[in-house]
Amino acid sequence: MSKSISGFSKLSKSHKIDWIVATYFNNNNDAKNIIKQYWNSNLKLQQLHDEFIENTITNYYLPFGVAPNFLINGKMHAIPMAIEESSVVAAASKAAKFWSERGGFKAEVLSTTKIGQVHFMFHGDFKVLNTFFETVKPKLKEATKSITKNMEKRGGGILDIELRDKTESIEGYFQLHATFETLDAMGANFINSCLEQFAKTFREEALDYDSFSEKEKNIDVIMSILSNYVPDCLVRAEVSCPVKDLTENPLINPEEFANKFIQAVRIAEVEPFRAVTHNKGIMNGVDAVVLATGNDFRAVEAGVHAYASRSGRYTSLTHAKIEDGIFTFWIEIPLALGTVGGLTSLHPLVKLALELLHEPTARELMQIVAVAGLAQNFAALRSLTTTGIQEGHMKMHLMNILNQFEATNEEKAILIDYFKTHTASHSAVVEAINKLRI
Ligand code: MEV
Repeated sequence: MSKSISGFSKLSKSHKIDWIVATYFNNNNDAKNIIKQYWNSNLKLQQLHDEFIENTITNYYLPFGVAPNFLINGKMHAIPMAIEESSVVAAASKAAKFWSERGGFKAEVLSTTKIGQVHFMFHGDFKVLNTFFETVKPKLKEATKSITKNMEKRGGGILDIELRDKTESIEGYFQLHATFETLDAMGANFINSCLEQFAKTFREEALDYDSFSEKEKNIDVIMSILSNYVPDCLVRAEVSCPVKDLTENPLINPEEFANKFIQAVRIAEVEPFRAVTHNKGIMNGVDAVVLATGNDFRAVEAGVHAYASRSGRYTSLTHAKIEDGIFTFWIEIPLALGTVGGLTSLHPLVKLALELLHEPTARELMQIVAVAGLAQNFAALRSLTTTGIQEGHMKMHLMNILNQFEATNEEKAILIDYFKTHTASHSAVVEAINKLRI
């Protein structure tokens, strides 16, 4: 059994590593070397990364790739993507090129409202609580003036605060349900600061409210926190073209392809087992851009999947139709993103990613991210309904297998060429390497 330790966070970085290597790696120097191999020689940059979180011992690299040729609302973009999965950037680039020759992607932000809640317990007369809430509501806003001042100057702030009765679910449970406009900020700190102030003012005012009984005066605030479910922070992206233009491959009939594609989307609309994988493919594109631009991919993931379940059944985030010979494929997803604050002004690669995207507003970034998700889904469904997914996947995965076998550059060149015309499965690649090495 490994030892526990107290005061770990207070140790220096090298002492932390010494402890980890002694406790978990039997003092093996290889482990120490791997950890140190990822340190950056630029000490300032390393310190920046060390200070992002507690107990940093090294950096964790992900490839930062670029998918060019994304024509979005008439403007060309090269989209930055941070992701480890071999085929994602290649698939996005292919889909981008394909649609850039067919009018590109159209995207629009449908709404930008974010939500936060103060959850509290009140055991008493709801009518009296409601009257108290109406009286105190202007004071709740007033008390947050110092927090909201700058946001209001820019046109954002608190949109509304409602009192919600949740006693059908839990006895005595109520909420202050607040809506916010946070403009180019993701808004988590802004929203949480407002909510904590609402809670404080609400509690304090209740203590002095004469119409409450002594028991009612003691409002029990459970917690104050934003919601990552943002169904009213919504973006839509679509592509469309005449069905006849849907494929350049003479071996594929465009009508057949379009119908099969639409059936594949329908299956994801009605069948949760398929919908989860379908949406996972969308999130390959979404998360990669969210991560590259320094946004919170866990928040996005949680919110998107909740949205996919809003009808009570988990379903596809994308939809497709053919009308009057025109194929249309679209996505609608909630995305709470920021292009100011957080990592955006701190992390040099995040800054570079945003510069590459021409310093987008949060609304523009929502459109770009939704497009990346749609493109990814198009590429996946096109492969799935034609060649199957493994052909493209294994081509991209080939390099991983070659690296596992420490193939030389010369071996790589020969085998990459060989697998242009042969089916690449794991065993076929291993066999080919072995043959080459005889
Ligand atoms: C793999 O990362 C993503 C796919 O499985 C998505 C899909 O099935 O639609 C290819």
